[in-house]
Amino acid sequence: MKIIQVGLGAWGASWLNVIHHSKSWELAGVVDVNSDAARAAAEQYGIPAYATIEDALDHKDTFDAALVIVPPEYHAAVAIPALEAGVHTLIEKPLAHSLEDGVRIIEAAEKSGKQAMVSQNYRFKRAARTVQRLIRDGVIGDLEHVFVDYKKNPPFEGFRLEMDEPLIVDAMIHHLDQLRGIVGVEPTAVRARSWNTGTSRFKGNASAVVQFDCDNGARVVYTGSWSSYGPQTSWDGDWEIQGSKGAITWKNNEVTINFASLFDTVFLAGAVERSGVMHVDLDPLPVEERLGTLEAFRDAIETGNKAETDVTDNIQSLQLVMATVDSARQDGAPITLKTNAELFGSH
Ligand SMILES: NC(=O)c1ccc[n+]([C@@H]2O[C@H](COP(=O)([O-])OP(=O)(O)OC[C@H]3O[C@@H](n4cnc5c(N)ncnc54)[C@H](O)[C@@H]3O)[C@@H](O)[C@H]2O)c1
Repeated sequence: MKIIQVGLGAWGASWLNVIHHSKSWELAGVVDVNSDAARAAAEQYGIPAYATIEDALDHKDTFDAALVIVPPEYHAAVAIPALEAGVHTLIEKPLAHSLEDGVRIIEAAEKSGKQAMVSQNYRFKRAARTVQRLIRDGVIGDLEHVFVDYKKNPPFEGFRLEMDEPLIVDAMIHHLDQLRGIVGVEPTAVRARSWNTGTSRFKGNASAVVQFDCDNGARVVYTGSWSSYGPQTSWDGDWEIQGSKGAITWKNNEVTINFASLFDTVFLAGAVERSGVMHVDLDPLPVEERLGTLEAFRDAIETGNKAETDVTDNIQSLQLVMATVDSARQDGAPITLKTNAELFGSH
């Protein structure tokens, strides 16, 4: 299948290489309002360059899908015309800049009948999928509480430096989506506080502590920072997921389990015991990270079934981000999350 890539900035440059390695997708054109960036990529891959999505859509018979990698405030401005023109659309996270834009993208997708999916690449990794399987198989029993700790000092330039809440909006979206898609709980309420340090490179708040109540009664505590000069976590963060039978530790792409019962440390298929802790082999995946989202996108188009990170599901990950921001702005006031029916009813 053929895809055009809209956005050739820092992350877009890396995406060109991902598409190049995909066995399912061929790059059919590039779009960027920065004509130098568009020309350079077009020359490198021997494909057409366009300045706007509208220019590219004049040639829509030459591609099947569009990939949107522009800053979040422009996601709707690119995705909606593509969907209205009948082009399947894969959108970088976060789905949109606002819930209103997210709802407009969903409405455009539903009207067109085309696939619209968010590239939540952090779900498509071996450690994440292994944790998901263990929880789904009931290996640690009923979920009780989850602790997530994320510490980075990333040398970003550009739009993130100007955002009000860069950590919550640009980083936590990954972890909140993992909470829903990998751990498998739906938060019902959130309380958040965020702040910035004097040494932070970000203008907005780059640190936060957030607490979620979840539909199954579990509590989640998240601490994160993008101005942390101490030891760095992986991009996924360090997770401790405790259930009635034991706790999964997911850290640096390794998965271990501390069981409550001694006898559970004797045998677990696909795991070995070391000092009373079960070390789990990571489940193999045919492809990972963005190659994984590209495969899921292609499957959705071929089968007509919605992908797991279809926009209709992903609006809930976006809502979690927005509710976390709302609570942080109110210095920790509890915010109740809405169902999809309530969200769509209110717009
Ligand atoms: N999934 C991840 O792990 C991950 C990592 C980094 C960035 N991202 C996401 O990727 C997206 C882009 O981030 P970035 O860091 O590459 O941003 P960037 O600012 O470096 O690049 C954005 C590019 O889009 C172009 N652009 C802006 N508006 C446009 C429009 N209307 N039409 C065509 N081109 C337009 C700009 O000229 C620029 O080249 C964001 O949504 C970001 O959150 C995701």
